[in-house]
Amino acid sequence: KFNQLALTPPMGWNSWNTFQTHINEDLIKKTADNIVSTGMKEAGYIYLVLDDGWMTKQRDSLGYLVPDPEKFPHGIKAVIDYVHSKGLKFGLYNCAGTLTCAGYPGTRGHEYQDALRYAQWGIDYLKYDWCSSDGINAKEAYTTMSRAISNAGRPMVFSLCEWGSNQPWLWAENVGQLWRTTADITAERWDGKVDKGSYFQFSPMAIMDSQEALYPYAGPGHYNDPDMLEVGNGNYTPEENRSHFSMWAMMAAPLMAGNDLSKMTPSILNILTNKNIISIDQDSLAIQGHRIENLPDSVEVWAKPLKNNQWAVAFLNRGSKTSSLQYTWSEKVISDTVHHKILDLRNTNYPLQDLWLDKQIGTTKKTLKVSLPAHDVLLIKIFTHH
Ligand code: GLA
Repeated sequence: KFNQLALTPPMGWNSWNTFQTHINEDLIKKTADNIVSTGMKEAGYIYLVLDDGWMTKQRDSLGYLVPDPEKFPHGIKAVIDYVHSKGLKFGLYNCAGTLTCAGYPGTRGHEYQDALRYAQWGIDYLKYDWCSSDGINAKEAYTTMSRAISNAGRPMVFSLCEWGSNQPWLWAENVGQLWRTTADITAERWDGKVDKGSYFQFSPMAIMDSQEALYPYAGPGHYNDPDMLEVGNGNYTPEENRSHFSMWAMMAAPLMAGNDLSKMTPSILNILTNKNIISIDQDSLAIQGHRIENLPDSVEVWAKPLKNNQWAVAFLNRGSKTSSLQYTWSEKVISDTVHHKILDLRNTNYPLQDLWLDKQIGTTKKTLKVSLPAHDVLLIKIFTHH
């Protein structure tokens, strides 16, 4: 079945955030090697996605896309085969418009031809963008490509990338498995937006803010996509990297690493492969967590229902000062009424686990008292039974 392809949010690596169009055979093969040797594959990062810039600027005389022979001297199929030989899956990028965002041939008018070619090459995932799309109806364009993929006969995760401009959460549940909700992410800032003149880029926190209200629309096999990870990019502090990753997990987001794996520090690798945090992201209910409370010092509380009536709760310090956090669980009833989930914590004594420290930190009977550094997060799992 369609939605069985991604029963939990897809995980992998994508070339765009670090390399843009500076991609080539050597980079992709080495990245595949690194996904395996670093343990990222074992942690769940299965899709290696080659983003924009893989083609030449013209289709061939029969209308087929042509992989750039300088970047990929042995063709694209050889690279795909190599990635598959590592036990990984391969994703590719194109665009619903006439040109991709970097100016390469888009798929408009070639949907069935391109889908068939991707199937022949062994593609497992298609990211489908929205540049040069003037006058095209988004729902129709994405539905056409979705049908072309299923006619081509090879299962492919279909990733919609129209930046939320046509509210895909209202119509794409049976078109693709994930849809972007905002403009592109940037590692230039942790919070706020960056004005690029004719458009904006969004920091991780800005994306989180604009995706929050969409939590009713995510579920197994269909996800709001807050864009690829910037963990390990830019000049983020360890706290900021941890918060970014934690909040993507709280949002049941696709986890597409976007850093240079050949230069990754051990602390970044530890964040990206943290089993406890990944298990929150990959929980089988696939419910997107949402903000339930605002505390002093710009600390936000987010909650995500998990399977077996367990919950994840995140305390996120958006402010620039360390916060002396106090939280009295026994006064709280936490809920996600959209998904009919309610957690009544009054008169309870449920154990709490700090997921980053991987240790018990008391129970819901006691008031939580911790100091939470600027831009850091405390991610807790509540064990309602154990
Ligand atoms: C758009 C997308 C990005 C990336 C680039 C490639 O901006 O939103 O994620 O794919 O195009 O050109």
